[in-house]
Formats: sequence, structure tokens, C-alpha cells
Amino acid sequence: MKKPGNGSSSGKKGNTRKPKSTNGAGDSSSRLDPAIARWLVAAVAEFPASRSSTIPMLQSAQTALGYLPGDAMRAIARHLGVAPAVVEGVASFYAQFRFNAPGKHRVTVCSGTACYVRGSGKLMEDIQADLHIAPGGTTADGSISLESVSCFGACALAPVVVLDDKVLRQQTSASMKKVIQELSAGPPKGRTRSARSAPAARGARK
Ligand code: FES
Repeated sequence: MKKPGNGSSSGKKGNTRKPKSTNGAGDSSSRLDPAIARWLVAAVAEFPASRSSTIPMLQSAQTALGYLPGDAMRAIARHLGVAPAVVEGVASFYAQFRFNAPGKHRVTVCSGTACYVRGSGKLMEDIQADLHIAPGGTTADGSISLESVSCFGACALAPVVVLDDKVLRQQTSASMKKVIQELSAGPPKGRTRSARSAPAARGARK
């Protein structure tokens, strides 16, 4: 899927760490963050040093780490024998990749047709205004990340928002404001009763 230029998911934002001046993925692993180093050892063993491994390795890194740290992309580049900009360019082309550490909670708004005609566009605008972030961003306190997806496969429940792995059906700006307030206030005293929920839908994307 081609990235529609959705705000903060640009490939350069999260790359604040200094590049490691190393020659190979194995040589550099001891100087990496331990989580990245663990992923890298397994990834180098799994994926051949071919450009065709670029996207699979990016997906693997994001699955293991939650997002794509600059060090992970540079490690991929070393393994594949290409410039880091090549890997970063591929990653930034696809909306599926994240370049910032995800928040404690993930709010994903469906922008598919069924949800859109039932108001998900306005819903997303209001959530953005409440959180002061754009899709792909994370609140300053790290509590909430905001994302969008084209369809969760739960169109009968439109407009749909997924909070972490829970589908919230037929959401409104008011109901989501309550959800966000509860998330921002810390652990809820009960479950989030303000939003009608349903089990995670088939095809819901993390
Ligand atoms: S369009 Fe939103 S769940 Fe299908």
C-alpha cells in the first residue's frame, strides 16, 4: 500500500540515534540496544543478504520491536550491503511501518468506506484535536498512539475504532472523548463502559 503522506509517519522522524560505524550486522550487535541485538541475531540467520529481504526484515523488526528504530534499519542495511538511505526509503514508502515507539495504548480509527460514510472522518479529526497528534503520532506522555486503517473487516459496526486489541463499535466523538479521558487518567477503575465494544474483528490490523 502506498503511503498517503500521513503526517508523522515519515521515515526520518524516529531516527535520532547516531549511526554505528560497523561493518557487519554480527559485528555491531553487541553495541546495539539488547532488544535490537536479539532481533538482529535471529533476523540475520533467517533472511538472506538480498534486497528481496528488505521488506520482510523491516516487518520482522517492527513485529519484534514495535516500531523501526534507526539502529534496526541501519543493521538491515549492513546485512543487505546497501546504504541506510535505501532501507529507510523503502520503509518510508509503506504506511505499515512506524518510526516512533508506540504509546502505551493504540487507538486505530477505521477510514474505510463504511466507516467513513458513518462519520469516521470527523471522528478522526476530533480525536486528533483531543490528542494533539496526527495519525502515526504518539502523545507527548507516551500514553496513546493514533493510527488509521482502511478496513477492519467489521463494517457492520461502523464507525469502528480499535483500542489496543478491542473493537469499539459505532463510535462518536463524544464516546471517544470519554475513552481518551479514561486512558489519559491512567488505569480505569472498571472497564471502559462508555464505549460499546465487541471482540477483536477479523482482519483488524495492529
Ligand atoms: S470500513 Fe470500517 S470496518 Fe470496514
